[in-house]
Amino acid sequence: MNIRPTTGDSSWFVHDRFGLFIHWGLYALPARHEWVKSREKMSDEQYDLYFKYFEPDLYDPDQWAQIAYDAGMKYFVITTKHHEGFCLWDSRYTNYKSTQAPHCRRDLLTPMVKAFRDKGLRVGFYHSLIDWHHPDYWIDNRNHPQRDLVAALGKLDPMIGNVENEPKLSRRDSNPNQGRDQSRYARYLHDQVRELLTEFGRIDILWFDFSFPPAPGQDRRDFSIGKGREAWESEKLLAMIRQLQPQVLLDNRLDLPDLESSWDFATPEQAQPLEWVRVNGTRVVWEACQTFSGSWGYHRDEQSWRSTDELIRTLIDCVSKGGNLLLNVGPTGRGEFDARAIERLKGIGEWMKRHSRSIYGCTEAPPEFVCPRDCRLTYNPDRQRVYIHLFAYPYKYLHLEGSFVSRIEYAQFLHDASEIRIGLDSWHADQIGTADQRISLNLPQVKPDVAVPVIEVGLKSS
Ligand code: GLC
Repeated sequence: MNIRPTTGDSSWFVHDRFGLFIHWGLYALPARHEWVKSREKMSDEQYDLYFKYFEPDLYDPDQWAQIAYDAGMKYFVITTKHHEGFCLWDSRYTNYKSTQAPHCRRDLLTPMVKAFRDKGLRVGFYHSLIDWHHPDYWIDNRNHPQRDLVAALGKLDPMIGNVENEPKLSRRDSNPNQGRDQSRYARYLHDQVRELLTEFGRIDILWFDFSFPPAPGQDRRDFSIGKGREAWESEKLLAMIRQLQPQVLLDNRLDLPDLESSWDFATPEQAQPLEWVRVNGTRVVWEACQTFSGSWGYHRDEQSWRSTDELIRTLIDCVSKGGNLLLNVGPTGRGEFDARAIERLKGIGEWMKRHSRSIYGCTEAPPEFVCPRDCRLTYNPDRQRVYIHLFAYPYKYLHLEGSFVSRIEYAQFLHDASEIRIGLDSWHADQIGTADQRISLNLPQVKPDVAVPVIEVGLKSS
């Protein structure tokens, strides 16, 4: 099968399939979305209260790593800095960092990296290109907390039109970006990425977020109406990354779509693709990043949590389409995982304990294995096994078509390795009919007591 090759090392990634995203920053305190500074158009002074009161006294990275490990996750990606600009490590280029927050006073990143590595998980860094705190970062009319200052210059966001429901702003003549030097910000960004790639050992994933270039036809160098590769000096950044850590896997948000080496994997978020993600018609390495409830940061009042069963199905769905799942947790300001997240991760771990064989090392099944109704297939090419995930439990028989008919050698439930007999009783064959190109698996009447039952099919060599 033709899959777009990657510059970084994706061999482990397409095997491991399941990782933990962690969004942790000062926004855990307002606890009403990691975009709160932008959504509520907060000033730096207002937001400073969170810096002042940030006190993660219950932070225990070993426990975090244990929870991820028990859930069956093989890697993690942590927000070293989110859009708010606050850094979780002791960067020498800023004071806006955990070691300077008066009630934190510690490097949060180093012990986290160590804890997850000790558990055998690989390390990924999410790093925000956007920075709503840095004094050289240009205020834009798109998502910056102070966007009204730009809008007041008459530069309205064509998509949103920003100020509709706002009190009328008087037009200003003074440029709010006076004195801000975006290229100095780019240097800061590069310097910090160099720190991250030189002071924490081998990094497996770099996850940049995100570019929002001006609309076609607009001036790409006007950083008050959007930011893309010019604002981040992406090409230079890329060269440094590939030189410092050639194996690192890069996401696709640096706004360099025409440069082959500029990205390794695609990153659909908050929705599942219908099939294997393609770019220009070619299948690519991809990873869906998904939340439990909508927000990435800790959100106290959000009640829209997905169930454990749904999340397990999402993981299966990714692998059945050749992709990975990066499932996100937003720890609290005290430094603990949300109890609702812990409960779900436990449930996923329960399932993974007996079913990870259908996830690790697996991918989309060859199309000649026709996927039965209400199911998802995954396939392990090395072991020559197809895994049938029963999203709905069938009444007595599961009917298989396509290559299953000629290739099936053995079938068993994965959770307890109990044989599933192949074939219809003659009594039933008369009633429900048979077909040459069909084979039926004889299932127990009662659905096994697991979230999603899986049938493992051993194949005769073709
Ligand atoms: C979006 C959001 C952000 C989140 C990210 C994860 O781009 O800006 O808050 O970190 O998605 O994919």
